[in-house]
Amino acid sequence: MRNSIQKKLFITYGIAIIIGFAILALTLLKIFDRYFIENRKELLYEQGRKVAREAASVLYLGNPDSKSLINDLQVLDKFLNAHIWVVNGEGTVIAVSGSREDSLLGRRVSEEKLCILAKGESIEARGNFEGMLSEPSLTVGYPVFVNGRFSGGVLVHASLLEIQGNLREIYRLTLWAILVSVAVAYGILYIQIRRISDPLREISEAARVIAGGEFQRRLDIKTGDEIEELGRSFNNMAESLEKIEENRRNLIANISHDLRSPMTSIRGFIEGIVDGTIPEDRREHYLSIVLEESKRLIEITNELLELSNIQQGRLEIREEAFELNETIRKKFIAYEKRITEKKLNVTFSICEERIMAMSDKGLIERVLSNLLDNAVKFTPEMGSIEIRTLSKEGSITVEIKNTGESINSKELTKVWERFYKGDASRGLYKGGYGLGLSIVKEIISQLNEKIWVSGGEGYVVFAFTVKKA
Ligand SMILES: Nc1ncnc2c1ncn2[C@@H]1O[C@H](COP(=O)(O)OP(=O)(O)OP(=O)(O)O)[C@@H](O)[C@H]1O
Ligand SMILES: [Mg+2]
Repeated sequence: MRNSIQKKLFITYGIAIIIGFAILALTLLKIFDRYFIENRKELLYEQGRKVAREAASVLYLGNPDSKSLINDLQVLDKFLNAHIWVVNGEGTVIAVSGSREDSLLGRRVSEEKLCILAKGESIEARGNFEGMLSEPSLTVGYPVFVNGRFSGGVLVHASLLEIQGNLREIYRLTLWAILVSVAVAYGILYIQIRRISDPLREISEAARVIAGGEFQRRLDIKTGDEIEELGRSFNNMAESLEKIEENRRNLIANISHDLRSPMTSIRGFIEGIVDGTIPEDRREHYLSIVLEESKRLIEITNELLELSNIQQGRLEIREEAFELNETIRKKFIAYEKRITEKKLNVTFSICEERIMAMSDKGLIERVLSNLLDNAVKFTPEMGSIEIRTLSKEGSITVEIKNTGESINSKELTKVWERFYKGDASRGLYKGGYGLGLSIVKEIISQLNEKIWVSGGEGYVVFAFTVKKA
């Protein structure tokens, strides 16, 4: 019994079992005792009454040596295994059933006992009858009245030794039965307690292992009760932890990968400048690349920081009413130069001229610039971009559709992952880090809005909702 829950259950249930059985034992013993004594008493009374009738004539005649009475007494003595005395009205023993007791003839019973008989009541006593008997006995006494006058009584003594012997045997059996029952009860209790405490120990052991970083550990508890449920929840927790751990590892691997490439090129160029491999007239050119790369480094760290802040819920949301179409148009102007460079065809279809939104304007602008940036970046030259706002019950949907290589559905679900970059982003436009959409997704979820992406043959549509004012 190593742990305390087992000990506690064992002690409390154990005490309950013992108290229960003790009460049962005491009651049983009391019942046995009473049953035996009462039974015996009954028998003694019955015979006492018979003797009393016979004794009446003898007492009336005052002839204590009546042969037939003594004979009867002797027969009854054998039959009942009891000694019978006849006392006269003064309390003097005038006849006894056994010859061994002849010495008692002539002795007197106590005044107190005689009084009881004289009142017409019967005597019931346990013990050695005021020292007159050699062994503890059960005594019943019966008064005898002749013609309405108290004339004496009949006392029947049955040895208690025999009864006690019988009772002792019964006590012994009862005690054994109870001991065996207690042992069985304890055995069952032990098994039951183990069934509770073993899985608990298994769970705490697994928790320790997981806390130590071994996330693969799972439980297999089949008790069919709440503990099994606990085991299942525990396994779910372990699974989530494992996933988080895996994410963390991937994230670190991705971050180091993305930080390494700009840092390697910065180092390469600076080394070249320092050791003179790069001629003086080319230095300025390479330094400007170094500047670009270091700007990229700052940008990526900023973005990562922003993402982690948003994920930790450190985003302050300040809702206000603003006109959405105007906001989108203004955001778009920033991309005008690149749009004309790539000869993109942009259409702007709006449901109403003015459409009031109720949200955090700054955050919506960040969502918009990320989506617009992607659209401009990933639409091939001469392609087209279409922006739509749809006013629905309670919310506005903003759709940004652009032509380009179709993205297959498996890839579509991945675009929200941190550091996910499609093939297009890797080759031609290597400016991105694959963080834009994960930031967008976080912002949208903090704003309690929805965002989704769909695609078809040669186009992609990103859409999100904004609350209406
Ligand atoms: N409008 C789009 N058309 C086609 N592909 C897209 C579009 N928007 C996103 N993608 C794909 O989803 C990937 C993830 O986009 P995301 O904005 O997260 O990263 P990124 O634009 O490559 O880099 P960053 O936004 O960090 O500068 C992109 O690399 C691209 O493959
Ligand atoms: Mg992007």
